[in-house]
Amino acid sequence: MSTANKNVILVGFMGSGKTTVGKRLAHALGWTFVDSDHAIEAHEGMAVRDIFQSEGEAYFRQAETETLRRLLSSENQVIATGGGAVLKEENRKLMLEGGLVVALKASEATVVKRVRGDESRPLLQGDVEERVRSLMLARKTAYDFAPVQIDTDGRSVEEIVKLIAEKTANAV
Ligand code: S3P
Repeated sequence: MSTANKNVILVGFMGSGKTTVGKRLAHALGWTFVDSDHAIEAHEGMAVRDIFQSEGEAYFRQAETETLRRLLSSENQVIATGGGAVLKEENRKLMLEGGLVVALKASEATVVKRVRGDESRPLLQGDVEERVRSLMLARKTAYDFAPVQIDTDGRSVEEIVKLIAEKTANAV
């Protein structure tokens, strides 16, 4: 791969399949899978939910930027980012410079089905339909900066992995 595409960075709304697809893609490419939320949790010694609760979202966002910067200094990784990592210009720049950024798109109904009952996502607590609808609306164009866009609805994980693996090969 060229130095501009040394990692694959998956972005997308919560529940769009970044972790599931990322693990399989890493396996297919023989690369390392990294979940940025897990890296933040390991670094902070606290679950994301607890970081939001005790330190606040701004603190989490700062830790997220630092984690992305650290992770993106290595190569041959498939990195699943948190759904809000794309909100900062600084992060978008880091990601675009650190590899091939791939956005996974999923419909509101699919996302609701996947995240319902999940207590680990602080931004989706309460009325899950309402939370997903309003956050998706607020982030309508947030993932558009990614050069590769993949519609995941109606596609199997294998199909999605194959599509991304092809794009990755073409980016060499
Ligand atoms: C967030 C998404 C979460 C996690 C945090 C905030 C967001 O990651 O980073 O709860 O703002 O969309 P996932 O997309 O992996 O759920």
